[in-house]
Amino acid sequence: DAGHYDNGGYEHYLLKEISEQPDTVARTLRGRIDDRFHIAHLGGLNMDARETRSFRRVKIIGCGSAYYSGQMGAQLIEELARIPADAEPASEFRYRSPVVEPDTLYVAISQSGETYDTLAAVQELKRKGGRVLGIVNTVGSAIARETDGGIYLHAGPEVSVASTKAFISTAVAFALLALHLGRVRDLSPADGRRICEGLRRLPEQIKEILTLEDRIKELAKKYADAPGMMFVGRVRGYPVAREGAQKLKEISYVHAEAYPASELKHGPLALISPELPTVAIVPDDELLDKNLTTLGEIRARHGRILMVGHRTSEAADDCIVVPKNQVELDPILLTIPLQLFAYHAAVALDRDVDRPRNLAKSVTVE
Ligand code: AGP
Repeated sequence: DAGHYDNGGYEHYLLKEISEQPDTVARTLRGRIDDRFHIAHLGGLNMDARETRSFRRVKIIGCGSAYYSGQMGAQLIEELARIPADAEPASEFRYRSPVVEPDTLYVAISQSGETYDTLAAVQELKRKGGRVLGIVNTVGSAIARETDGGIYLHAGPEVSVASTKAFISTAVAFALLALHLGRVRDLSPADGRRICEGLRRLPEQIKEILTLEDRIKELAKKYADAPGMMFVGRVRGYPVAREGAQKLKEISYVHAEAYPASELKHGPLALISPELPTVAIVPDDELLDKNLTTLGEIRARHGRILMVGHRTSEAADDCIVVPKNQVELDPILLTIPLQLFAYHAAVALDRDVDRPRNLAKSVTVE
């Protein structure tokens, strides 16, 4: 219930929560970066160095946006700590018969800490002897209590049904976890330093992105009348695309599909037409050329393109350019304009932004 939280003069909690992100990210980071050894301090994990080194695999579970942030987290862990990692919806995980291994680190993600599917998955893991950490926003919640340790987000109460600041703080918490795991394994001091510096820059860069709001609002109005939208990204850009599509469908009710850009030609390219615009996540990374080729393929089918990246391109109809950080951390920043895009699309369509139809803030039933 939103009743007792101040909306801070914003028209909607969602916009308040999006706007708070420079502060909420700073809170997630506070006291956790060590600039001397370029490591992360995560006392809540309750793991000694030996145990931290012992894991051969990381399995991340969560529902909805928490799952998408987990996919972002899995990529961060693989890139920085070189431990095989993947994410799965907790709602699926709990119903199959997963192999629970002693050398796997399980991570459960939940803003509310009360999502029943995630809680049930944690309980099943514990029953089978799994080591489970929680990345949770709500202190003392059921998932926080059931897990062996973890990272609190300290993002403050999230009131709007659509998750924004908790998603971003979760990704930041994963960057810290990846740094922590990496620095007791293979990650060099130089790379550790690069990531610490990148993390420290995030709040200022988020502020910069928030100044693009008027432009994003115009773009949201321009595209909101489409019956549907395609969101594409490659590798690091794919979880960004999934979360962007999720935000748009939840609060504007515009149909949105997210696909890896590389998969378009294996099926969904058939959907591309002037009626189905594409939001393309195109970071300046080693996949830039591949992504620009994809834009050409969409263009050739007369699809309109809104590109979100680090530069403008003539291959797109419109571009949103965000500040660059380290390649591993860029997905965090690329997600912010998509939150504003969904918000302004929902407002333009006169939707109930903070309480979208059919959805609950935390799904505490099966
Ligand atoms: C996010 O915008 C959604 N409302 C939803 O997917 C949410 O992330 C999911 O239900 C998980 O919630 P939790 O983080 O509280 O566990």
